[in-house]
This record gives sequence, structure tokens and C-alpha cells, in this order.
Amino acid sequence: MKVTLSTDSVTTVRADLLAIGVHGSLTRDPHVKAINKVCGGALGKVARMEGFEGKKGQVVKASPGGIGAKQVLLVGLGSGEPSAASARILAATAGRAAASYGTLAVAPPDEGLETVRALASGALLGAYRYTRYLTGDKAPKKSLGTTKLLVAKRTPELREAALRGVSLGESVNQARDLVNAPPNDLTPTALADYAKEHAKALGIQCKVWDAKGIQKLGMNLLLAVARGSSQEPRFIHMTYKPKGVKNPRKVVFVGKGLTFDAGGLCLKPPKSMLDMKCDMAGAAATIGLALAAARLEVPVEVHAVIGSTENMLGEDAYRPGDVFASLDGKTVEIINTDAEGRLVLADALAYARELGGDFLIDHATLTGACMVALGPWRAGIFTDDDELAERYAAAADTEGESYWRMPMDHDLDSLLDSSIADLKHTGERSGGAITAGLFLARFVGESRYMHLDIAGPAFGERVHGVAPKGGTGFGVMTAIRFLESLAD
Ligand code: BES
Ligand code: MN
Ligand code: ZN
Repeated sequence: MKVTLSTDSVTTVRADLLAIGVHGSLTRDPHVKAINKVCGGALGKVARMEGFEGKKGQVVKASPGGIGAKQVLLVGLGSGEPSAASARILAATAGRAAASYGTLAVAPPDEGLETVRALASGALLGAYRYTRYLTGDKAPKKSLGTTKLLVAKRTPELREAALRGVSLGESVNQARDLVNAPPNDLTPTALADYAKEHAKALGIQCKVWDAKGIQKLGMNLLLAVARGSSQEPRFIHMTYKPKGVKNPRKVVFVGKGLTFDAGGLCLKPPKSMLDMKCDMAGAAATIGLALAAARLEVPVEVHAVIGSTENMLGEDAYRPGDVFASLDGKTVEIINTDAEGRLVLADALAYARELGGDFLIDHATLTGACMVALGPWRAGIFTDDDELAERYAAAADTEGESYWRMPMDHDLDSLLDSSIADLKHTGERSGGAITAGLFLARFVGESRYMHLDIAGPAFGERVHGVAPKGGTGFGVMTAIRFLESLAD
């Protein structure tokens, strides 16, 4: 999809659909007023008839006639202050409604650079569909061609903002594609190949280790999880270095890349297993944010580190009671083979901490317990570092992604005591998301570290906000905003 800036007005712009965001009052909205003037009040009439009051989530489609656009979509944004996040909802709602149209026009609530960037990214996020496996009649005939953002003047700054929005939207959509890809096709090898291919296209480094290489590195926890699978594991390290920045800040991201999680010998029931292709969403977000950082030329050095495998139950599968030594030498007693993510992450974090970044941050679909605590749409923040947590939460607020800080309750550390090894890898049912975070924190040394449990928001049962059903690309936008905040 193309995003362009247009100086046409809401009454003259030619489009299949013209979207207008309404903050609270319909009668006071200048765009609605302008259209009503030329169509004899028809738009206002339809809106009233449909009970549209500009409330959050309300939408009305009308064909008022007398204007350049074939249809108008009013999108309720609630009575809150306009923001980049609400602009993105507007554009995403419009993009979704126009996904099979030729041209969409969006009337911005204002012409700030942030607003235009949010609109451009939102249009891409809304128009997203995963069509790779649809054939014949099921394959969509058309996808949204052009989105015009209406502005008073086409300045180079606005153009740049729109381009940045497009880059961001594309990167989030790439993460969604990865999560949506079926696990028989998106194997650990395929995931690594994808990272390599896209890194190369953007001029960032990407190093990949196969099973033998991983063995040489000494990542026995990653290998333990991989034992039950006939697919070879992969370890991935992407590096983006900004050009022309002296001594840039450096952030190391780690992603959980389970291309499928059957639970291992502690097998999941079918219902819980169904969507477990999403268990590489942390890896997808990590790859997506690295690609976005390169596209947006973020002035921060970014590392993306991923451990990828399946968790299956082949004859050589790891068992409850097994003990393995991690990359940093600590011995771990296996309790439940379905708690595989923290094992893969432990080795990846022990590797990543040696890179010496200012911050070490992981994204992982780690625990059902985090979803029980926070619901399906919110990620958990686990860290001892108040400043890092606050900075991250502020970035998330700006982008409209939902996070909540959870207690890193060290009182629970003792739940990980093992009688035969340095530590167990799970605690008890209660506090399950916290003990997972505490386990990970044992492997990060002195790093300023934060764990993000995205088990809920990474994969949706239905459309929610800018997120489609299925893979959401959650985490990419907040990470980029966080990186930008470090450079300010
Ligand atoms: N991948 C799952 C967590 C998950 C659950 C992600 C639902 C997305 C949606 C993880 O590997 C897992 O199985 N965790 C266990 C841990 C338990 C065995 C300690 C869980 O949450 O039940
Ligand atoms: Mn599991
Ligand atoms: Zn898992």
C-alpha cells in the first residue's frame, strides 16, 4: 500500500472511502460541518439515525453525495484528548474498512508530525490481512492501493513523518506474518532464514548458529528443549549499528522463538496447543523491531538475540527430573517440560549479557499465568529497575500498547530452590508469571534488565484496537518509541 499526502479538502478529495475521526461532539467537528454544508446535512442525518455520538468504538458509514469521496466513515474516538494513539486507531479502523478498496482518504485530527506518522502506520496496520494460504475464490482479489492523508501543505517534514509511519507499519506487519505462519512451514530454520534475508536487505548483520554451533557455544538448555523435535534449533543474533553516531547507546533485545510448543512430555491439552504457533511472537517482535530500527535509522545500536526451537515429544525428549548445565554454568533441574521458554531464554540471556548493552530486554510469550493476571490484551513488565520500567511504560502509553508493571517479588526466589541442582526451573502455580521472571533474572548478571511477558497481547482471538485476529506484532512500536526516547 502507498501512503501519500494530499492537499484536497474533505469535500473534494476523490476516494472510495473518506475517514473522519470524531472526538466527542459530532456537531462541532469541522470536517463533518464542511461535508454537511455541501450535502444538505445528509451526513449528520445518517449519523443521528444510527445513534452515532463519537463514542469510542462507534462507527458509521454513509454515502452523503455531493462530495468527491464515494463513502464517508465516521470513527468515534471518545471524549479524551486527541493523541498519536487515537490517530492510529482512526487510520487502522479506516484501513480495515477499506482493505479491499482502491483508495482511502483520512482527514487528520491535526497536522502534527506525530499524528501523520501514527496515521500512516495505522492505515497499514488496519489494512493488514494474512492471505498467504488462501487460494481460488478464497484469495482476495484486491487490497488497499493508496491512502491519502489530507494536509494543508505538503512539507518535507510531513512527508518524512508519513514515510516513517509506513516503515513502522511494515515492520509490525512483518512480525504479524511471522506469527501467523503455520508451524509446519515456519520452522526454526525458516525463522533464521527469514531474519538473514531481511537483515541483508537492510544492511544489518545477522549471524546464525545451527545445532552443532549451538552445542559449541554451550547452550545446553536450548538443546535440552530441542531434543524432542526432529527440527534443528537455531540461534540468531542480528546487529544494527547506526551510521554517523559517536558512542551510541546500546540496547540488547532477546526473543523467545518457539515455532511450536506442544508442551513436550508434559503435553498440552488440544485446546491449549491449538494456537501454539504463536510461541515465537517474542522472536517476531524482536526481529520486527530490529528491522524497524534500521528502516527508521534510529540512532541507537540494537541487538536482536533469538533462541529458536520446537518443544515436542520425540523419543529423545527431555524429561522432568533431568538436570542440564546452562551456558553460564548453572545447573537446572527440569520440573515441567512445558516451561520450556525460560530455558531457551536463560541461555540466550547469558549470551546477550556479554554484549554489554545499556539495557537488556526480552519479549516472550512466557506464561498463561500472566494472562490470568492481566487479561488477553496487556503485557507484563518484570524488572527491578524503576527507571527502565517507567521509561518503557511511557513509550507504551504514547503508542497505545498496554503494559502493566508486575511485582518482581524476590520473596518468591526460594520457590526455585532445588535439592539436587543450583535451581529448579518452575515454582508453584500461584505467582507463576513472577517466578518465571525471577528465573530469567538469574541469568542476566549485572545488566539493567527487563522481562516482557507478551503471552496475551501477541495473539488475538478477535480484532481489538489496531490489532487483527491472530498475530498482532505487539511490542514493536513501543520498543521503537523507547529507543527513540534514549536518543532524545
Ligand atoms: N508458551 C506457553 C505460554 C503461553 C500460554 C503462551 C498461552 C501463550 C498463550 C509456555 O511455554 C507455557 O507452556 N507455560 C506454562 C508454564 C508452566 C508449565 C509453569 C504455563 O503457562 O502453563
Ligand atoms: Mn510451554
Ligand atoms: Zn512456550
